[in-house]
Formats: sequence, structure tokens, C-alpha cells
Amino acid sequence: MIVTARSFAKINLGLRIGAPRADGFHELLTIYQTIGLHDLIQVSVVRGNGIEIRCDDPRVPKDESNTCWRIVEKVMESLHANGRVIVEIEKCLPVQGGMGGASANAVTALLALERVLKKSLSASERLRIAAEVGSDVPLFLIGGMVLGMERGEQVYPLEDFPATPCVVVTPDVGVSTPKAFAEWDRKQGLKPRSSKDRAGNEELTMPKSFDRMSELGREMSAWLSESYSGAPGSGRAERGRAENPLLALVRAGIKNDFEEVVFPEYPELSEGKKALERAGAKYASLSGSGSTLYGLFASKEAADLAVSRLRKQGWTAQSTATLTRQRYWKRIWV
Ligand code: C5P
Repeated sequence: MIVTARSFAKINLGLRIGAPRADGFHELLTIYQTIGLHDLIQVSVVRGNGIEIRCDDPRVPKDESNTCWRIVEKVMESLHANGRVIVEIEKCLPVQGGMGGASANAVTALLALERVLKKSLSASERLRIAAEVGSDVPLFLIGGMVLGMERGEQVYPLEDFPATPCVVVTPDVGVSTPKAFAEWDRKQGLKPRSSKDRAGNEELTMPKSFDRMSELGREMSAWLSESYSGAPGSGRAERGRAENPLLALVRAGIKNDFEEVVFPEYPELSEGKKALERAGAKYASLSGSGSTLYGLFASKEAADLAVSRLRKQGWTAQSTATLTRQRYWKRIWV
């Protein structure tokens, strides 16, 4: 039996980097949003043992460093299953693109493998395994709009907003996430933590980082709750139901901290964001640590027009839309 499934990408609607932790990761606060762009994953189990990764894209590792390999190994062990697992990846999403491509591939491989084996892990076991594979893997077990906390692996479903037209620009550079985090620390004047300076660093860095995280927390909370509040000055009462709440992001001014370190290093990405804004995006941002940039648009027509404009300027641009949780789960199986 062969199971084929779509592996949808995500964008980050705001991302704030907090304090570095003793385990080498950073505290994060972000809203993940799944979108329609996707890879295809095919899983089968044959006689024998071991794991085989097949992919035409030479940039995709075929060994145990591949996220699909790592998750399959854990799932097989957890389900006490036997056989040789073959995972075929048809790559459309960029590699090291900040859209969670490899992380999404891992979750899709997990779900497809469960189908092939006709065995299921519990929901919490899936989340545990996903978090072991990477910080932005568990979000793909939820889909739609997802709040990400701690190192990004603590995920909570948020109420979805209607599908919003979105243009994705994929510049031809790969950004290393660990390097971007390290550059962030350097810019903040933080040294890598060692056991010797841990206490001192904590004194110096925690309050500032904590304040910044709380600030974004408040912004997000205000934005997300806006539609429920009838209070004067709150969104819905004044603007009415017609406005797409996602576009209220523009007013909330939610931003992605990675832009501060990635844009100076790759000025063309900053140019890409400006190009999206000039092409009519209501909100444009880097996704994750990049290099993908996205823009949210008021209509599909505006997004399509922006794509042709951006392509004429030499950008690789695609029109898509945000994917609600319901659509995400409906469209996952091919
Ligand atoms: O969890 P994941 O494997 O995606 O993380 C890759 C690297 O990115 C980590 O090894 C770490 O250096 C960095 N990272 C971080 N803080 C996070 C997530 C990732 O410092 N919250």
C-alpha cells in the first residue's frame, strides 16, 4: 500500500525571539499560519528493514539527517512496527526557506506511515515525537492558525480567520536558522551561554527579553481578541464584519525579529519585502528566519496582479492563500 499526502507550508505572523536557554534554544513567541503551497510525500512499507528517502532535489539529504528519516525511525519504534519504510519527497517548497518545508514533510510522513501501517499513535505521543524532530514540527499536527511558545514546539490551536490571499516570494538564498539566532544574540550583546556565566547572563538578559515577549504577547492578545470585544475603539464595532481580521495585522504592527538580523546580511530580502509592499500587500514580512517573504492581500485579484508585477521585476513569486485548520485536514490526503 502506498499513501500519498500533501505537506503544506507555514508562514509566521509575527515572531519574537526571547532569551537564550540553557539547552541552546531560544524562547519564542509566534503565530504560525499554514498556507496552500505544498510538497508531496509518498510512503510505503516493504519487506526488510531500514529507511529509504527518495527525492530528486540534490539539496535534500537522503540520510538520517532528513527530518522524515528521523520521524519514521521514532514512529516505527513507538508502534513496534517492522518493515522497510520508503519515503518519496516531491519537493516544491524551498529548502531552508523559513516555510517549515522539512518540518511539514516529517509530520506528513508520520501521518502517512500510520495509514500504511493501520496503526495510530496517541495525539500526545505524536506531539512528543514531533517536538523531538524539530521546534517547528508540532505545529503541522494542528494546522490553521497556531500559537507557538517556548522554543516554538509548544503549540495551541487559535481560532481561524477566513482564507486570506497571500503572495510568497522565494529568493534564491538559503538562510541558516542557527546562524540567524546566533547573530541575534550577538546583536543583543549576548554571549553563548556556558555554565560559568549562566547566572550572570540570566540577570542581564532575562528581564529585557521577558519584557519584549510580554509586549508581543499583549499585542497578539489584543489583536486576537479584538473581534470579540464590543468596547469602544475595538475593531469589529467600528470596522464592521466586512474587514478580514488577518489584515488588522497592519494596525497591530506585529513584526518578525529575524528581519533585524537577516535583512542586513541579505539586503535583497529587504528589497523583496519593499517590492511586495509596492505591489499592494497590506502586510509583508519575512517568514521564520527566511529567506521566504510573504505579503497578505485584500483580494485574490490583487494578489494575482502583484505576482505578475513581481515576476516582471525578476522575483520568483507565487499566489496562494492561508489555509484554515479545516481545509488543511481536508486537503492533506491526495
Ligand atoms: O529545533 P530545530 O532543529 O528546528 O532548531 C534548529 C536550531 O535552531 C537549533 O539547534 C538552535 O540552534 C536554533 N533554535 C533556537 N531556538 C529555537 C529554535 C531553534 O536557538 N527556539
